[in-house]
Amino acid sequence: MEKNHKRTLVTCALPYANGPVHIGHLAGVYVPADIYVRYLRMRGEDVLYVCGSDEHGVPITIKARQQGCTPQDIVDKYHKIIKDSFSGLGINFDIYGRTSSEVHEKNASEFFRKLYDEGKFITKESEQYYDPEAKTFLADRYIVGTCPKCGAEGAYGDQCEKCGSTLSPEELINPKSKLSGAEPVKKKTTHWYLPLNRYEEWLSKWILEGHKEWRSNVYGQCKSWIDGGLQPRAVSRDLDWGVPVPVEGAEGKVLYVWFDAPIGYISNTQELLPQSWEQWWKSDDTRLVHFIGKDNIVFHCIVFPSMLKAYGDGYILPDNVPANEFLNLEGDKISTSRNWAVWAHEYLEQFPGKEDVMRYVLTANAPETKDNDFSWKDFQARNNSELVAIFGNFVNRAIVLTHKYFGGKVPACGELLDIDREVLASIPELRASLERNIEGYHFREALKDAMSIARAGNKYISDTEPWKVAKTDMERTGTILNVCLQICADLAIAFEPFTPFASEKLRKMLRVCICAGVDHRQGEQQTVNTYKPGEGAAIHTVSVASSFDTAALRASCPGAACNVCLNWDKLGDAAILPEGHEIGEAELLFAKIEDEAIDAQLARLEAIRAEREAAAKAEAASAVTPQKDECSFEQFAKMDIRTATVLEAERVPKTDKLLKLTIDTGIDKRVIVSGIAQFYSPEDMLGKQICILANLTPRVIRGIESHGMILMARQGDGKMRFITPQETLANGAEIG
Ligand code: MF3
Ligand code: ZN
Repeated sequence: MEKNHKRTLVTCALPYANGPVHIGHLAGVYVPADIYVRYLRMRGEDVLYVCGSDEHGVPITIKARQQGCTPQDIVDKYHKIIKDSFSGLGINFDIYGRTSSEVHEKNASEFFRKLYDEGKFITKESEQYYDPEAKTFLADRYIVGTCPKCGAEGAYGDQCEKCGSTLSPEELINPKSKLSGAEPVKKKTTHWYLPLNRYEEWLSKWILEGHKEWRSNVYGQCKSWIDGGLQPRAVSRDLDWGVPVPVEGAEGKVLYVWFDAPIGYISNTQELLPQSWEQWWKSDDTRLVHFIGKDNIVFHCIVFPSMLKAYGDGYILPDNVPANEFLNLEGDKISTSRNWAVWAHEYLEQFPGKEDVMRYVLTANAPETKDNDFSWKDFQARNNSELVAIFGNFVNRAIVLTHKYFGGKVPACGELLDIDREVLASIPELRASLERNIEGYHFREALKDAMSIARAGNKYISDTEPWKVAKTDMERTGTILNVCLQICADLAIAFEPFTPFASEKLRKMLRVCICAGVDHRQGEQQTVNTYKPGEGAAIHTVSVASSFDTAALRASCPGAACNVCLNWDKLGDAAILPEGHEIGEAELLFAKIEDEAIDAQLARLEAIRAEREAAAKAEAASAVTPQKDECSFEQFAKMDIRTATVLEAERVPKTDKLLKLTIDTGIDKRVIVSGIAQFYSPEDMLGKQICILANLTPRVIRGIESHGMILMARQGDGKMRFITPQETLANGAEIG
């Protein structure tokens, strides 16, 4: 690994505390970040891993209003759920803070104040919608009306969720305040703006010239923003939830959530490391990496860097911003409002002990270069035919056979044959590829490399068949199992970033510990994750002096003495486990997932889909088309509309839609061809009194001459019914 830095600060987008996190969040941001951090730590890097809840913004206030509680109640509830979900999945930030904390309020407020004092903002007066009854300005989200694009009711002032169009409140038809239902009026208000145009040239140099190595989706978005010309962006809002604007005369105004939230990264670092936080944010020796989803790119690459640049004071800028695309669920866009999601906290409850499976599947399907799909069948297949059948099966065979033939002690490695040398030689190559991939933020490929090690082991044990060799040659059997056990140790190292729970189980089976690196969870005091041989997990604290020293750390690991303390450098070493080392009992690394568990998930989603479709149908049925252009009485009077009775009815052959009806119009008996076969069978129509337009110009339909048209009422969803007099009348009675 190329090193021109002393430490790495990894941040993950602060999730909004207005709902739990789902697999889209995990795949896009948190699982890849966690892989990256675990990897760097195993390599002896000093890493700080920061996240927290984003607790401001309009959606939180809307949710509170809907549920009849305060915004604070909402964020308290979801902050806890989200925090627990992360730790349940083994995503252990050094700090998971919150933007409603005192440290943050103070920090964000001071940040604004300095920019304000130094004249870095401009102010602008604009007209905003105001609710005259509730006496408050309305955020775009608080204005609802009819979508001008698709006609759906309940579109928001910033977006129509039905057709996905981005809107402005001015475009809504019949705008209403969500608070009072009153019609909003325009009112003047003043806000502070960060003039991004002043930073355009600097951004262009820094990103477009200086960071061509960024992912193409990230670089491309930055380029189109910069090329399109940057506009001043408002950094305040008229709202009563958020960090108050620290300026006199700014009552009723708070910092815009996208102004305060990224400062949350800094606040959370300060909260954890009140003494030494500046070395993480203001030292050129620190490399900053932001993990985010694609909808956050502009804020992390353009807005926040411009804020930091404006602030000055030595703040560093991100070295990379690996943003992912989106994950879909069973072919449909994940949507919180439509409950189309797999929620992390529910998954943890429903699949206990399978934290790694989700981490594995989300990495294997990570939407790194394009949107990708999660399906439960794929989840099951990847567990059963990859984790269980390859990784788990290999480890199980190696350990069980070692107990069977060698009393659970690592057998001696005798003379190596080509097949042994080949498999052993493949591992350093896979390791090199894995390292390149993780360091280049290609986590899917990196996982494939790790899996290739398991695949190689599984193939090796199948090809060498130690259970057969054991009948004739114990020494050779020992060599084969020695090789297998070394590969098991390789797997414990290589999979630690991806499937940490399985890696820990495997270390327990092998009775080894690992130097998984240093974290900063206890603040200034650093903690090293190691595992005592035979005792499973044990975190022990070492006092690492203020300077970060990997060698000292490893030396102080209690496993170092037993000589089987794993660390990244041992990956691919052909003699990790010494001859005679005693291993533990075999335990299943992964368990098969049965159809029932998958079917239950699919049924749940199916029910949601059915409910949604039923609701959509009901809405379509009640949709009314707008009134047609005016028509004079003379025009109307030209139409000859009468009652008639159906005498004969049959299907028009080779069509699904047409019925041929012979009717008595009172004037004559005639044939009308009508497109109603989807709604009525010939039997339904027989003997019915209907209404017809008698003087419509005759037309030939499918070779049959049709004399007139049956009057039908058509509902919004297309359903049709014929019109019949309220009481049977004589045929030929005129209607009008
Ligand atoms: N809450 C935002 C989202 O979920 C992310 C905020 S990231 C931060 O899209 F940088 F602003 F903190
Ligand atoms: Zn719409």
